[in-house]
Amino acid sequence: MSLNLVTLLYLVASVCFIQALKGLSHPTTSIRGNLFGMSGMAIAAVTTGALIWKLAGTPLGLGWVLLGLVVGGGYGAWRAKTVEMTKMPELVAFFHSMIGLAAVFIAIAAVAEPSALEHGLAKGEAIPTGNRLELFLGAAIGAITFSGSVIAFGKLSGTYKFRLFKGAPVQFAGQHMVNLVLGLAMLGCGVAFIATESPVAFGVMVALSFVLGVLIIIPIGGADMPVVVSMLNSYSGWAAAGIGFSLNNPMLIIAGSLVGSSGAILSYIMCKAMNRSFFSVILGGFGAEPGTAAAGAAEARPVKSGSADDAAFILGNAESVIIVPGYGLAVARAQHAVKELAAKLTHKGISVKYAIHPVAGRMPGHMNVLLAEAEVPYDQVFEMDEINGEFGQADVAIILGANDVVNPAALTKGSPIYGMPILEAYKAKTVIVNKRSMAAGYAGLDNELFYMDKTMMVFGDAKKVVEDMLKAVE
Ligand code: TAP
Repeated sequence: MSLNLVTLLYLVASVCFIQALKGLSHPTTSIRGNLFGMSGMAIAAVTTGALIWKLAGTPLGLGWVLLGLVVGGGYGAWRAKTVEMTKMPELVAFFHSMIGLAAVFIAIAAVAEPSALEHGLAKGEAIPTGNRLELFLGAAIGAITFSGSVIAFGKLSGTYKFRLFKGAPVQFAGQHMVNLVLGLAMLGCGVAFIATESPVAFGVMVALSFVLGVLIIIPIGGADMPVVVSMLNSYSGWAAAGIGFSLNNPMLIIAGSLVGSSGAILSYIMCKAMNRSFFSVILGGFGAEPGTAAAGAAEARPVKSGSADDAAFILGNAESVIIVPGYGLAVARAQHAVKELAAKLTHKGISVKYAIHPVAGRMPGHMNVLLAEAEVPYDQVFEMDEINGEFGQADVAIILGANDVVNPAALTKGSPIYGMPILEAYKAKTVIVNKRSMAAGYAGLDNELFYMDKTMMVFGDAKKVVEDMLKAVE
């Protein structure tokens, strides 16, 4: 395979990745986007394999690559196929940690044996200064991504006893100063490596980066972890781009930059939707209000509650219904039952719309994916900004396993979620809320909406309750 053909195929793969991102921006085009992404990755992997074959000149090198592809690809495919929807953020954190580690390994290999990886270098020849800078950036960002993602994985899974893997922030006196000093020391070692090509400076720089990754993520509470995962996604992209420069691989540079910039934009959007300061999150919880996630347990106050039959009666007599899906709906896997309920109501001539909050659930697009899985028509699904104006005219807002995203506390100054944009379900003429108990949502806050006169609570597992409503709707 000629180098011109390699460049052309890399270009085709890069265009596929851009098309993938474009397609993934809307549910109707997301399958096409995924197909583009898969095709781009297949072209990139086969082309790189052919390139290695050409450069290595022996089947052994290619054999190692194929082994890596089979083992890594097989494991990834199995995990992605078997993962539960609610465990997706952990899987993503795990994948990012692998990307970071791969970047570190490549950088270490390039420093140990420059002629094997740096294009056109003779054995024993010094690595050019520009390439040292790229190696420094790729290795440092990769190491921070790896150790940070491991901590994020532990915090998200919530199943490990290890203190650093607990959801509560780990904070100590002078934490930011320690981070600053370590960060400066890491930069200093990086500069020393660029100036002298010292492997010792490189090694210390990588070690400090691993430590920094841990220190940056531990002060961030579990509630902010999905933003952190999105941010680490961005870091992993920049690490790949840095290594792409070192390997002189244009496709890796383009793909890494796409991941880096889209991850940064997504983190920003998520921070805005959760009313978190972007810089506070990327700087390791700097300026964050401690204890937000644990604030305010639910109070013991009377609420109006009813049965699934009561709810079905109200729904059956409405003219317009807005469904608000949340994390509880995902846990209960109630999306198919909800779709059938909506179809039955629509059949009766009732207008049914779904309202999606940008951070409903536990990862971006969580609700859209769930509803798409149940084949809910896309024209019934509305983003927060599109539908908020309609709650005031809606006869019924039915909230299924959602809590924080409809909590009017976001409108009250001093509340930990003050300023977070919410779905204005409280404006509907009647509100039906399904959850299992009066327990608080992810932010740990009581929800005034549950105590309003026009609100009826229907307690129980979302799937069971919706199935009962489905049976009861005339
Ligand atoms: P939450 O506020 O977590 O509320 C979900 C509710 O579902 C809980 O109150 C729970 O109450 C109920 N529930 C759990 N299992 C259920 C079941 N089987 N059947 C019925 N109800 C069930 O969820 P939300 O409103 O979707 O808000 C998302 C939260 O996650 C926000 O705080 C958001 O900031 C945070 N977050 C989201 C993201 C992204 S990107 N999506 C990122 C970071 C953080 P019971 O226990 O009483 O049933």
